[in-house]
Amino acid sequence: MSQHTNPNLYAQRRAHLAAQLAKGGVAIIPTAPEQRRNRDSDFLFRPDSYFYYLTGFTEPNATLVVLANGHSIVFCQPKDEAREIWDGIRLGPAAAPAALGLQSAFANTELDTRLPTLLENTDVVYFPFATHHGLDGHIHHWLEAVRAKSRQGITCPAEQRDLCVLLDEMRLIKDATEIDIMRRAAQISAGAHIRAMKLSAQRLRQGLETREFHLDAELLHEFRLHGSQYPAYSSIVAGGANACVLHYRADAAPIQHGDLVLIDAGCELHGYASDITRTFPANGKFTAPQRELYDIVLASQQAAVAATQAGNRFNDPHDAAVAVLAQGMLDVGLLDPSKVGSLQDVIEQRAYTPFYMHRTSHWLGMDVHDCGSYIEPTEAHLVTEKIDPVTKQTVQVRPSRILREGMVLTLEPGLYVRPAAGVPERYHNIGIRIEDDALVTANGCELLSRDVPVDADEIEAIMR
Ligand code: GLY
Ligand code: MN
Ligand code: MN
Repeated sequence: MSQHTNPNLYAQRRAHLAAQLAKGGVAIIPTAPEQRRNRDSDFLFRPDSYFYYLTGFTEPNATLVVLANGHSIVFCQPKDEAREIWDGIRLGPAAAPAALGLQSAFANTELDTRLPTLLENTDVVYFPFATHHGLDGHIHHWLEAVRAKSRQGITCPAEQRDLCVLLDEMRLIKDATEIDIMRRAAQISAGAHIRAMKLSAQRLRQGLETREFHLDAELLHEFRLHGSQYPAYSSIVAGGANACVLHYRADAAPIQHGDLVLIDAGCELHGYASDITRTFPANGKFTAPQRELYDIVLASQQAAVAATQAGNRFNDPHDAAVAVLAQGMLDVGLLDPSKVGSLQDVIEQRAYTPFYMHRTSHWLGMDVHDCGSYIEPTEAHLVTEKIDPVTKQTVQVRPSRILREGMVLTLEPGLYVRPAAGVPERYHNIGIRIEDDALVTANGCELLSRDVPVDADEIEAIMR
């Protein structure tokens, strides 16, 4: 991930954060740790999303401190010629303030001596809870060092607060820079899906052995070709019955004439995810039962799209999609009305769950399942209890989030038919999901990911 080049943008975000801190507040945000893959090989480093959101800084071993008075301090790797020969150029504390638009910088080796000083005589320490292993232990030590000076009249913060509460709300509403990057990420991913569809039809036409990894290779190629740093999550490339495994990974199963292929893959670009699913016939032509179910899923997604607009609730697209899916299940005989009752019964009893068992949406942003409360904060106190008809557990329900301009969510209904008694055989092992990325606008939503078609006829056309 390259360092972002507009320090003003990050300075503005930090100023916005600082303005929300309590008087005498200090916020501490470390970047992600480097992760060992095996023996002495590391996973490619990716900064922590909160840290990157506030700095644009991509080096490991760094910590940001934001003070309520608006000052920001970064602790970063010191210059070290020997290490830089091996690992690359370091920004270093001398250059960091100008490059990152903040007030001061120190070597990360000074963290344990300087942090207690920064915390002296302050009131509230903020940090992201439950996101960085060991951070609470460090904070404990820094606070201990402050408390040790109490006889000198130095006071120690009496309160710890979860910084995610503030940062999640900021990240939930995307600014213009973020929307530009997300639009581009989705375009790249759309191109990758088209490429995989075309290769599948081409290889099958040529009689070439085709496996899931052949299509995965196309995705990776297209992502990197356009500057994406890596996939935003592990790509799912599922041939045939594998599509019914929700978290299947791209593997080595053969892809054959008559199969559907489900690809759920999106690139990450400059720290932002895209998340697209398309389901297409391996050889470019849907069979009749595949097409029947496909058109139900597509209609359910269209209903979800229509329900996605500012002022509606986060749950509205899900409810809209479920109504169409459930009606479709009754229409094609996946559900038997003599057993499950009317459409309303199916919805109320969640009798559709054998074939549709996940939610329709999640927030999308720097993280593929992005941060942000799914509960409307102004109504969080409005709790009702009900018995879940499937699990029979008592669950608490709060009003779901009111959608606002600048939020981005996925719309990803599906149908997954595992062979079972009473399930029409013509649908066995068909797994379909259609997923797009929706930016909420005043009057509806903009689908960022529609550079790859969803209509069955259009998919067949580009695969010819
Ligand atoms: N690709 C992860 C998801 O769709 O939620
Ligand atoms: Mn998704
Ligand atoms: Mn997905």
